[in-house]
Amino acid sequence: MLNTMLDELDHALTPVTPPMPPLVDGFGRRHTNLRISVTDRCNIRCFYCMPAEGVVFRPREELLTFEEIERFVRALVPLGIDKLRLTGGEPLVRTDLPTLVELLAAVPGVRDIALTTNGMLLDSQAAALKQAGLRRLNISLDTLREEVFERITRRQGLDRVLAGIAAAQDAGFEEIRLNAVAIRGLTEEEIIPLAEFARERKLELRFIEFMPLDAEHHWSNDQLLTGADIRRVVESRWGPLIPAPRSNPSQPAVDFQFADGRGSIGFINPVSEPFCGDCNRLRLTAEGQVRNCLFSTVEWDARRVLREGGSDDDLRALVRESVAAKAAAHGIGQSDFHQPERAMYQIGG
Ligand code: 5AD
Ligand code: SF4
Repeated sequence: MLNTMLDELDHALTPVTPPMPPLVDGFGRRHTNLRISVTDRCNIRCFYCMPAEGVVFRPREELLTFEEIERFVRALVPLGIDKLRLTGGEPLVRTDLPTLVELLAAVPGVRDIALTTNGMLLDSQAAALKQAGLRRLNISLDTLREEVFERITRRQGLDRVLAGIAAAQDAGFEEIRLNAVAIRGLTEEEIIPLAEFARERKLELRFIEFMPLDAEHHWSNDQLLTGADIRRVVESRWGPLIPAPRSNPSQPAVDFQFADGRGSIGFINPVSEPFCGDCNRLRLTAEGQVRNCLFSTVEWDARRVLREGGSDDDLRALVRESVAAKAAAHGIGQSDFHQPERAMYQIGG
């Protein structure tokens, strides 16, 4: 009797980690990074993402619950997923987001949790997020002028974003990045002020090229302000930038340091210099669909597995199928490229 009990105890204490093959796709890319959208809702309407009017959001019951998201993550950790990023829509409009952060931070094997936010609600939530175990924050900031902010977002509120950034710094976040989407004909004049702002506050600034993921399908190559264009503007003001050592080959940004040692700046150039060859990212949409690429046109229904009694092995098999089907590259600019039906807010940035 005692022996059986000891055996059982032994069994319970031994970590059950049968080696599971990692999530390697047909091109040798190993997937360790999961981007989780927690809502398709947003409190602003950036033209490069959402339609101006008539947005139809998913009904609440279609969204994965926090428990479902946690279960999905737990199932994938043994396959090597160890970095998470929460996105939206705007993730902070989802009630009680710090609770999800806490749940995910407690999953053994999760090494890193980050959040991408527009910053509008960060003022009141930064401290709770930090306490819940959030490590890194990306805050979208395309301009420092209210007038340009309103042209981009079709809403007011730059002051709230700036208050959010200040609150995040006060809350003690060490890694705060500012993401600026660059648009030709609209944001050229923002480059220097944004760089000055970031340098003064010791924030990392990254410019992102406008991708064809806008709901209205108005994207055109003419609106492309490339990383190389921006770099020239920055270098005309501060002199040559110094390439920063590349610690992680899968990171999309190419980072530089200012020659005077004050701060760094990065460029995410998905259109002019695609980085698909090093991609290690998978996505889970707010309603529980697995996507292997921002630009994929196929999805795998994890919510169904979660809600119809599927096992963790079933979830893993579904994700493997999605990884196996991943294309080599997004193909923007090629004649057979089709913009996905879903826009950025419905996928998760
Ligand atoms: N192209 C490039 N970046 C985009 N984002 C949203 N839509 C687009 C697009 N069409 C950015 C947001 C934010 C992140 C979630 O993605 O500004 O930084
Ligand atoms: Fe909202 Fe982000 Fe889309 Fe802007 S880019 S509308 S902030 S989800």
